[in-house]
Amino acid sequence: MVRLTNGKSRWMVLSAAGLAATAFSLAAVTAPTQVRAADAPNPEGVKLFEAKIRPILAENCIGCHGPDKQKGKLRLDTREGLIKGGLEDEKQIVVVVPGDPAKSMIIEAINYKNEDTQMPPPKKNKETGKTEDKKLTDEQIKDMTEWVKLGAPYGEKPVEATKKE
Ligand code: HEC
Repeated sequence: MVRLTNGKSRWMVLSAAGLAATAFSLAAVTAPTQVRAADAPNPEGVKLFEAKIRPILAENCIGCHGPDKQKGKLRLDTREGLIKGGLEDEKQIVVVVPGDPAKSMIIEAINYKNEDTQMPPPKKNKETGKTEDKKLTDEQIKDMTEWVKLGAPYGEKPVEATKKE
């Protein structure tokens, strides 16, 4: 009787350790794979970024959202900056939801849908005194939307401004 109890409890201890070991090795095997899958930039997205998005950002955004100026405390020259978002009244503003352009403020802003945030912002023409909108072309907006849908990946190098603001 005593031996049986001992034997049983020893088995239970062993199996608990075994389960823990199994769970541990499973976690060790699955966790890095999951992280890698989530972080791996979509190759098609990176291609689109280099071909179309880098030049759009360089020409239209980085002068105000890069190393020189950070309007709205937002930087768009790296993906870290994009993901970090902006700051308004000390509050963090999410500007992109990778994979979901409909929920991404950056896409709303370039579509000039909301009068409060139109990017690039309309600008007063010094000669005519008229305010002109600086809206991107339909094709550029389409490319930016597709890029966010593909997870908004960047390339290896930060985006450098081709135009100062
Ligand atoms: C002439 C300067 C200027 C340029 C160029 C510019 N922005 Fe902005 N941006 C601002 C300012 C100022 C704000 C913050 C106040 C506001 O919302 O108007 C801002 C805010 C934003 C925000 C919201 C985050 C926040 O903190 O309010 C997004 C998203 C954004 N810009 C994206 C862009 C994109 C994308 C481009 C290029 C297509 C761009 N901006 C070009 C000046 C600029």
